[in-house]
Amino acid sequence: MTVEKTVLVFGATGQQGGAVARALRSTGWRVRALVREPASEKAKALEATGVELYRGDFTNAASIETAMSGVYGVFSVQPSSGQGAAYGVTDEEEVRYGKTIADIAVKHGIRHFVYTSAAAAGKGATGLGHFDSKTEIEEHIRGLPIRSTIVRPAAFMEMLMLPGMGLDQGTFSFFMRPDQSMQFIAADDIGKIVASTFADPERFAGQTIEIAGDEVTGSGMQETLSRAAGRAIAYSRFPDSLLEQDAFLGRLAELVDDGRCAGAADIGALRRNFGALTTLDAWLSGPGKPLLDAALQAQDAPVALR
Ligand SMILES: NC(=O)c1ccc[n+]([C@@H]2O[C@H](COP(=O)([O-])OP(=O)(O)OC[C@H]3O[C@@H](n4cnc5c(N)ncnc54)[C@H](OP(=O)(O)O)[C@@H]3O)[C@@H](O)[C@H]2O)c1
Repeated sequence: MTVEKTVLVFGATGQQGGAVARALRSTGWRVRALVREPASEKAKALEATGVELYRGDFTNAASIETAMSGVYGVFSVQPSSGQGAAYGVTDEEEVRYGKTIADIAVKHGIRHFVYTSAAAAGKGATGLGHFDSKTEIEEHIRGLPIRSTIVRPAAFMEMLMLPGMGLDQGTFSFFMRPDQSMQFIAADDIGKIVASTFADPERFAGQTIEIAGDEVTGSGMQETLSRAAGRAIAYSRFPDSLLEQDAFLGRLAELVDDGRCAGAADIGALRRNFGALTTLDAWLSGPGKPLLDAALQAQDAPVALR
């Protein structure tokens, strides 16, 4: 009876963990969340949906031990240096947190461990620490005596609505050239896919799954955004001057060009295995609409991709 089972979700006040917690709750699981501040609005909102809160921190292994006692499964996500100042986490810290959580899961006899990585991981050194960190955590997990599943999400649709991409000016810039495609996934679909892996552990044990819900070219992005905004949005790739000046964005663009950041998910197979996944069109007129509306009205700002 899955209803008797509990999954400990890390990062449940965030995008991926929040989506996983919602999807698990809606499919009958008990969810426990390790949160830094149980009195925060986000933590209280989680609790109101029936999620059991445990106070803890990635820096405090004892708090992770306590939260992991008596649970069936674990969903593991860590913040990364790719998020810039949001958490101020270094690549070394990300690796340490990711490995420590997996080691504690082994110690506690966790029956199914799901780790979320990134599309660019596991494809050779990238030169960007927040991807290579995930390759290292993945390898560590695969070497442990635990039933595990790894998902590698493509770029989040939510990320497209961050400041600085030009929507308030009637333009949009990203990494793809007009005829070059890139895959994207809605955070809710990460939750849906992860919940499906918990529901069928034998089937997904030992698998590393590239996940995405849609694939869009630069030209397609122009059409899709114009349709969603109800007015013309002109798409262009980030200018070379920006990519030369900002080493982080420049390297990301190279990794899109060589395919590693473009996403390698078999979206048809994912739909067969996990059901309907959200297209960018559907996301922009559904869960992403408030973010789109805000981005269309925002004042111009520097690119805030990190
Ligand atoms: N953006 C993309 O397109 C993309 C694509 C693939 C992979 N990724 C990867 O996704 C990861 C981020 O996932 P996300 O977007 O779901 O994160 P997020 O929304 O920023 O949420 C991060 C979560 O981690 C929690 N947290 C942060 N520091 C903590 C600590 N010291 N102890 C315990 N909990 C802590 C936060 O809790 P609080 O509420 O306490 O802050 C929050 O719940 C990164 O590793 C990134 O590289 C991103």
